[in-house]
Amino acid sequence: MQFNSKRFYQFALILLSLSMVTSRGFAGVGEGQKLYDGYCVVCHGGLGEGQPMGKPLTDAVANRLSDAELIAVISDGRSGTGMAAWSSNLSATEILDIASYIRTLQGKPGLSLADAATGVSDDPQVLAGEQLFNGSAGCATCHTYRDQGGSVGPALDGIASRLADAALQQALLNPSATIVEGYATKIVQQPDGTTVRGRFRNDSERAIQIQSEDGRRWVTFFKDRVTSISDSSESLMPAVFATLGAAEQQQLLAFLKTL
Ligand code: HEC
Ligand code: HEC
Repeated sequence: MQFNSKRFYQFALILLSLSMVTSRGFAGVGEGQKLYDGYCVVCHGGLGEGQPMGKPLTDAVANRLSDAELIAVISDGRSGTGMAAWSSNLSATEILDIASYIRTLQGKPGLSLADAATGVSDDPQVLAGEQLFNGSAGCATCHTYRDQGGSVGPALDGIASRLADAALQQALLNPSATIVEGYATKIVQQPDGTTVRGRFRNDSERAIQIQSEDGRRWVTFFKDRVTSISDSSESLMPAVFATLGAAEQQQLLAFLKTL
């Protein structure tokens, strides 16, 4: 597997955000300025304009760093350059404070951690919901969020802004009540009497293609070799949600609302 540095830094950022709420809190820009003046000015200049031993922190390159990248470069340094890894000398909170101050030097409102972590939350309710989603509730086998997961059902990013509470509850409790366009169920009956159910994918004059319920296979059926092909009014989505306890339902809902 390829090392995915973006994910790693997102993860690091989550850890930082977590330690931020559990430790003394995020002191912010004022504290960041003191630390910056103490440790960084010598190479980056009082206003981030740069010094011979460092580089500007207000140029286009530094401005383009995402929050996660900014925090990562301060924490881990840049090997082979004068930029040291500060995570051994500064706490996670101090690094956040400094990063936040650098944003103000860049004329920005500060770190936008929520954006950088794409909605990652430290709410235990939400974290429990995410675990259910990816684990025992089985949602991730059919749904993606942030590009991870299966493709039998629609991607759920932004679901809470697409569906009002009542519609979201209905989609979960009674999936067949309304079927999202493009995610209809087809049933193919074969001459030996067996039937195959799946997500309709493609249709041509001679053949139809459906994706198996577990998402793993796309199967092509020649129309002249099957007994019948029909639409089903039943969603491929099992009514798992209805079988969960009230606490788990709340956790899952809380998680879906962060997407
Ligand atoms: C001894 C000099 C030195 C000190 C002290 C120093 N830096 Fe750096 N820093 C550098 C150099 C050199 C680079 C450029 C590395 C490179 O070539 O990618 C750099 C790069 C950076 C970058 C990346 C900028 C970009 O455009 O990619 C950030 C952010 C940064 N430093 C922040 C800090 C902060 C915050 C501190 C204080 C905690 C600090 N630096 C202390 C020398 C220093
Ligand atoms: C076997 C595959 C499958 C599983 C497992 C599954 N879903 Fe679905 N889901 C679908 C399909 C297919 C649709 C679209 C058809 C429909 O509207 O029912 C859908 C639709 C949805 C919708 C509505 C999306 C929209 O854009 O309107 C939500 C919300 C949803 N699922 C959430 C979940 C959650 C939460 C779980 C886990 C408890 C889950 N799903 C488990 C297949 C699945």
